[in-house]
Amino acid sequence: MRSDNMIPLLSEFLTLVSICLSIVSCQDIHPDTELSITEILEKHGFPAETHEVITKDGYIITMQRIPHGKNGTGVNPKPILMMHGLFGSAENYVVAEMYNSSMAGYFADRGYDVWLGNARGNIHSRRHVRLDPDKYKFWNFSYHEIAIYDVAAMVDHILKTSGKKKLYYIGHSQGGTVFYILNSMRPEYQKKFVQASLLAPAGLMGNYNNTLTLPLIRRRKMIEKMVNNAKIGEFPPKWFNFSQFLYGSCTETPLKYICQGLYNTLAGGDSGEFFPHLMPHIMRFIPSVAAKQMFHFMQSIDTGCFCQWDYGKKKNQEVYGTAEPPAYDLKSIQVPIALYYGLSDTLVFPKDVEKTCSIIPKCTRLYLLPNPKWTHLDFIFSVNLVKELNEPVITHMNTFKDDD
Ligand SMILES: *[C@@H]1O[C@H](CO)[C@@H](O)[C@H](O)[C@H]1NC(C)=O
Ligand SMILES: *[C@@H]1O[C@H](CO)[C@@H](O)[C@H](O)[C@H]1NC(C)=O
Ligand SMILES: *[C@@H]1O[C@H](CO)[C@@H](O)[C@H](O)[C@H]1NC(C)=O
Ligand SMILES: *[C@@H]1O[C@H](CO)[C@@H](O)[C@H](O)[C@H]1NC(C)=O
Ligand SMILES: *[C@@H]1O[C@H](CO)[C@@H](O)[C@H](O)[C@H]1NC(C)=O
Repeated sequence: MRSDNMIPLLSEFLTLVSICLSIVSCQDIHPDTELSITEILEKHGFPAETHEVITKDGYIITMQRIPHGKNGTGVNPKPILMMHGLFGSAENYVVAEMYNSSMAGYFADRGYDVWLGNARGNIHSRRHVRLDPDKYKFWNFSYHEIAIYDVAAMVDHILKTSGKKKLYYIGHSQGGTVFYILNSMRPEYQKKFVQASLLAPAGLMGNYNNTLTLPLIRRRKMIEKMVNNAKIGEFPPKWFNFSQFLYGSCTETPLKYICQGLYNTLAGGDSGEFFPHLMPHIMRFIPSVAAKQMFHFMQSIDTGCFCQWDYGKKKNQEVYGTAEPPAYDLKSIQVPIALYYGLSDTLVFPKDVEKTCSIIPKCTRLYLLPNPKWTHLDFIFSVNLVKELNEPVITHMNTFKDDD
């Protein structure tokens, strides 16, 4: 057997083993686990619509919409776009319905017309009018393109459909990155936002100090060369169905303890706020990203500059007219922005969020979550989401009026 057949084979074998394990011992799976996003919403009493938009560069983006709450009718008056982070999808704002706490449901019940975004490449947006998502060319993008094309197209579609002039915005992690980029690169979008609440937004990353990943990040150029030579555009590569593998493993098998440990390590420790039944549910929805998105984050961390993509000096000169890639201009963003951050976040570090607040002109709130063990993933998965996040966010948001 040729060696390049071995890795996919091994991955299929592991996946099979993990599925078997999960079937043998799946007594304790929560009924929401197997549902699609619209099924979850409908089961919990919310209306769910699906919308499609096509970006200027041809990506087909799917959005989910909750036009009103459980007891409501028609369409709520205040449109809001919720944008997920890296390795995320619309599900991030919905899965906590398992314990009646999702941010999407909460806002729909309180007067907001909730729209859930999906970045190109994720499970809902793995399509293009021309390009094949199984080919390298489809994956030649970073969060820069997600911001200036995907988020722009979603915002325009929301305003057109709702007939409003402005919308609200919530973004988690990379959902913050793309907000900064859209508003600095395409300033005409600033007037379309009433206000933004950014949860652990990844913008400035010069204070990133995650000892687990920093050694790899310092070797980013070497890794990037290897990945490019292997023609890997999608991460994890398609032949390895990461989500399915983890889903099989992290369900009620003994491996779930390893999964929990891994989750805690990645998130930044055990905050004591994780709902155990959620694990397999989360695993089901981990989508792929473009390898370039990850390299762009590595570039931000390694150089300490929240900058456009670095092509290398020669091509930078052609593309940007300078040898170094230009920085995104945070100072130019006039939208009122509230920043939320956690002390135990080991992906977006507190010092960077604090620094951002001192740079953007309208930082209306710098809110540290009260639990000192609050991590990067508690923003979407905490059991105490309603009390600790949803309430403070909506209270502040309701002080801003859409003035048309
Ligand atoms: C969520 O709400 C449903 C219906 O009101 C209720 O039956 C269920 O016990 C709640 N779940 C939790 C974890 O609070
Ligand atoms: C919906 O109506 C029920 C019954 O009147 C009430 O108990 C519940 O609190 C309402 N929920 C919301 C979100 O308004
Ligand atoms: C990827 O896109 C950039 C422009 O953003 C272009 O310069 C480059 O040639 C593209 N690479 C491939 C392999 O298509
Ligand atoms: C980074 O973390 C290490 C270990 O936790 C600590 O010793 C070091 O002072 C930190 N560096 C910065 C710049 O915060
Ligand atoms: C991974 O497996 C799941 C479950 O079988 C499937 O729904 C999904 O489409 C697969 N993902 C890819 C990228 O093939």
